[in-house]
Amino acid sequence: MAVPLINDNKGIKTFVVDDGHGVKGLSELRFKTLPELFIQPREKRLDMTKVVHHESIPVIDMSDWEDPKVMKRICDAAENWGFFQVVNHGVPLRVLDDVKEAAKGFFSLPADEKKRHLFKNSSTKNVRLVSSFIPEVDKVYEWKDYLSCFYVSDDETSAFWPSVCRDQLLEYLKESEALIKTLLKVLITRLDIPKLDETNEPFLMGSRRINLNYYPICPNPELTVGVGSHSDVSTLTILLQDETGGLYVRKLDSDNWVHVPPIKGSLTINIGDALQIMSNGRYKSIEHHVVANGLENRVSVPIFVNPRPSDVIGPLPQVIARGEKALYKHVLYSDYVKHFYRKPHNGKDTIDFAKV
Ligand code: OGA
Ligand code: NI
Repeated sequence: MAVPLINDNKGIKTFVVDDGHGVKGLSELRFKTLPELFIQPREKRLDMTKVVHHESIPVIDMSDWEDPKVMKRICDAAENWGFFQVVNHGVPLRVLDDVKEAAKGFFSLPADEKKRHLFKNSSTKNVRLVSSFIPEVDKVYEWKDYLSCFYVSDDETSAFWPSVCRDQLLEYLKESEALIKTLLKVLITRLDIPKLDETNEPFLMGSRRINLNYYPICPNPELTVGVGSHSDVSTLTILLQDETGGLYVRKLDSDNWVHVPPIKGSLTINIGDALQIMSNGRYKSIEHHVVANGLENRVSVPIFVNPRPSDVIGPLPQVIARGEKALYKHVLYSDYVKHFYRKPHNGKDTIDFAKV
């Protein structure tokens, strides 16, 4: 194994990206200081003086989701925070624990095995192992590795998803289906759409992507980011995080941030750009940011619930029928996603692509 020098950006890129060691492999070299490639400009780091501690995102008990009071809390959270946590959500806790273990299992594989899932070596475009966010585009790297899997079918999954985690991911996808439907069913009531059916289900939840995120121990966490500030391009994201913490969410229309504390057995839900667009801005896709950690490795597993790539999305007809002026154009969802993957993380700027 050729070990790179700390400030040799090219050598570090080869080690991390091309040789399959990832940021995790770099972390395990135990450099005393952060390699230059990862030193983020000050404005890209989270300013800890902007973090407020007296408020936090809502925590909603889903056991009685049909209770109008609970439905109201869900819709209010999506409007006012864009982020909330759910407990008693119906996804068995054993399934969540298995997914976290499977994620750790995948990242513990030797570099040579992980390398098979790099884009350049992979036999499918639906599974890819990545370091940073977009290593070909990022000028400064993020302190993170991730495996991203687009779900097509169970057969495709058996053929291409890594065997150490595929059954657990598939089980998590299946077990979260009912929760996803419940959340969407509730959220659309406020958009004057009475039910989830074949006319709206395809573009509200027509496809899924599941990511395994790994944030290894970092020598100078204050100089870099785990994930830079961004909003998701999904309809909804269902995020499973471990007990480490480190996810921060911007408070709506403010310069303040709140931490999303890990709550055992909870799932974090956030609205993505696609639902902000479809709801014509009523539901908010909120900026979020993950800091790096100097003491612990962290895993998280988001399921991105998306329209189908071939869907054209825009403000829903029922919303416009109420007399609202459309704030967004109609865009092909795959074009929207391509736009997201063309540039480094930069707050909420992706949605400008769809603004009227
Ligand atoms: C993401 C993301 C948050 C986390 O993958 O889009 O925002 O806590 N992850 O890992
Ligand atoms: Ni995100």
